[in-house]
Amino acid sequence: MYSTSAIGNTNGAASGNRMFRYEVSGLRANGVTQTPVRQSGSVFFIVPYNRMVAEMRRITRLGGKILNITPVGIDSEQSAAAPMASSSAASPSNGASANGAAKAKNKKPGADVPSNIYKPKNPYIGKCLSNDPLVGEGGSGIVQHLIFDISEGDLEYVEGQSIGIIPPGKDERGRPNKVRLYSIASTRHGDNVDDKTVSLCVRQLEYDDPETGEHVYGTCSTHLCGLKPGDDVAISGPVGKEMLLPEDTKANIIMLGTGTGIAPFRAFLWRMFKENNPGYKFDGLAWLFFGIPYSANILYKDDLEKMQAENPDNMRLTYAVSREQKTESGGKMYIQERIKEHADELWGMIQKPETHLYMCGLRGMEAGVDEGMTAAAEKFGVEWKKYRRQLKKEHRWHVEVY
Ligand SMILES: Cc1cc2nc3c(=O)[nH]c(=O)nc-3n(C[C@H](O)[C@H](O)[C@H](O)COP(=O)(O)OP(=O)(O)OC[C@H]3O[C@@H](n4cnc5c(N)ncnc54)[C@H](O)[C@@H]3O)c2cc1C
Ligand SMILES: NC(=O)c1ccc[n+]([C@@H]2O[C@H](COP(=O)([O-])OP(=O)(O)OC[C@H]3O[C@@H](n4cnc5c(N)ncnc54)[C@H](OP(=O)(O)O)[C@@H]3O)[C@@H](O)[C@H]2O)c1
Repeated sequence: MYSTSAIGNTNGAASGNRMFRYEVSGLRANGVTQTPVRQSGSVFFIVPYNRMVAEMRRITRLGGKILNITPVGIDSEQSAAAPMASSSAASPSNGASANGAAKAKNKKPGADVPSNIYKPKNPYIGKCLSNDPLVGEGGSGIVQHLIFDISEGDLEYVEGQSIGIIPPGKDERGRPNKVRLYSIASTRHGDNVDDKTVSLCVRQLEYDDPETGEHVYGTCSTHLCGLKPGDDVAISGPVGKEMLLPEDTKANIIMLGTGTGIAPFRAFLWRMFKENNPGYKFDGLAWLFFGIPYSANILYKDDLEKMQAENPDNMRLTYAVSREQKTESGGKMYIQERIKEHADELWGMIQKPETHLYMCGLRGMEAGVDEGMTAAAEKFGVEWKKYRRQLKKEHRWHVEVY
């Protein structure tokens, strides 16, 4: 099939900002396997303006048929003009170990993922297909799983990206409401595995205003949690290159999530264990640490536990139920306590260049995870913060907190 080098000329992209998305079918294999972003049989490439003629010739030579060419607005990171079809993200397979044996020479992660196909000013108007509660009886707050129909447009995405939602109406200053970001909770193929949907996991924000005492509901999260099947929803994006899965199917994926921070991990796990993707057969270890207040707040509990039971060698699941479980010293069971409990195993895994760590959820968890990792690293005489910097350089430490 078509290779990255077939598109080649990165300078061309830098000089002319105009880029075009090619949808191509029927390309002959040439030894390079790629998984289309969508399962339609097409592959998608981003081509700079000054390579268009050469690309058309090359596609014809490889027996391909161009189905569609559309201009795209893309950012400078995408100017490498790589094929969108590749799931290559963090490219860890050539990463060096964090204790410094060699420097990782990875390409910039996410160079080839879809980006900003729809801008907030000109969003895609999707339809809500379903909106289901995720919190069980006795749990805290409202968290919903939403599925949107995106079949009429060009929106596509990969696991670990986010979309923007533009709530209707105006803010308190009378200006149109601004976009809010939400991590995508489905795989690139969507929950119905038909490439026609995108899913979110949304908590309705509510709090008591510390000054007025008024009970306040968040604008966008309330809009989303109240959507009914058939309602319109304004979507921008996709955005985000921080939380992408490595293409290495033997990678170890350690996921540290709190609350709705489960969203990208749901997408990862569904891709690894639920879908049957010919180009991606996961054979590493996926270990989810999930922090929630009550057992009834374990989002996607049945699916997660079934998946773990069916894949005992490839998946581990560790909960930290903060308001039900206690630490040995009687404190709240937070995710960092679970990290400390499993310090030896985790540390052994982190040494391996094929191991990636992902953190997603409450902003406050970042300090907690650092505390857990510091304790784990100290057991081995390692200074965590320095080590973390090295992991980051190797594109093995991925953080999205909000
Ligand atoms: C990359 C990214 C991914 C995200 N993914 C998700 C996701 O998957 N699921 C999800 O539910 N959310 C997610 N969020 C959060 C989401 O973008 C919104 O911030 C959230 O839904 C609240 O938006 P809102 O419009 O409902 O609230 P707003 O109406 O915008 O209200 C938020 C404001 O309320 C105030 N506020 C909030 N809490 C308090 C408090 N306790 N006390 C006083 N004031 C307070 C603050 O000023 C805050 O800015 C993500 C954010 C980012 C950046
Ligand atoms: N009724 C409501 O509106 C309601 C209900 C629940 C949550 N919330 C608020 O919603 C926000 C996030 O909700 P969410 O769905 O993303 O998550 P969530 O379901 O509240 O789960 C977050 C988990 O992370 C824990 N946590 C808190 N601080 C932490 C820290 N520093 N380090 C590690 N773990 C920590 C929480 O414990 P603890 O919460 O036990 O400290 C909880 O177990 C929070 O601000 C929360 O206060 C509102």
